[in-house]
Amino acid sequence: MAIQRTLSIIKPDAVQKNIIGKIYTKIEDAGLKIVAAAMAQLDQASAEAFYDVHRKRPFFRSLVKFMSSGPIMIQVLEGENAVAKYREIMGATDPKQAAPGTIRAEFADSIEENAVHGSDSLENAEAEIGFFFGDDEEGDDSEMFEEFEYSDDLEDGEEGEDDVFGDDEDDGHGHGGHCGHKH
Ligand code: CMP
Repeated sequence: MAIQRTLSIIKPDAVQKNIIGKIYTKIEDAGLKIVAAAMAQLDQASAEAFYDVHRKRPFFRSLVKFMSSGPIMIQVLEGENAVAKYREIMGATDPKQAAPGTIRAEFADSIEENAVHGSDSLENAEAEIGFFFGDDEEGDDSEMFEEFEYSDDLEDGEEGEDDVFGDDEDDGHGHGGHCGHKH
């Protein structure tokens, strides 16, 4: 099984509950490494862009409102079979269905305010990592991501697209803070 990367988000409900550390412990205990991380607050456009695949779903507006309601913690996880492993420790989307001991079983309140997000495939992981940590519009690497050593045996996938933390047009410093994602 190859070394993979996946995107993890600790959602506004869990950040508000002050349980970032408890969730990080579950991630680390599963053998996954946190290789990049940033706290940010999504604006409405960024939340809509990130969850674009759910645009037609009845819960879309509410999901966007929730995801932009407060700070989130965004991290890239790396390890053996990271995509499936992280989904396993998150538990089912609906915390009522989540297996005992999973993050959502222990910390989530509802199917919407469900504490964490994780990429559902290797292809989506690459796209979602690119969304937050990828190249900016000029093609420069995000400063934040450049600081980390990449594994030699990382499994390949699609390149990500845009970068919420890259330089923006206003001040040239797009890292952290309030994400104004442009599409
Ligand atoms: P996530 O894994 O981030 O992917 C999409 C999100 O939409 C999901 O977690 C939930 O937060 C939310 N979601 C999924 N299904 C429902 C639903 N039936 N009602 C409300 N929110 C939902």
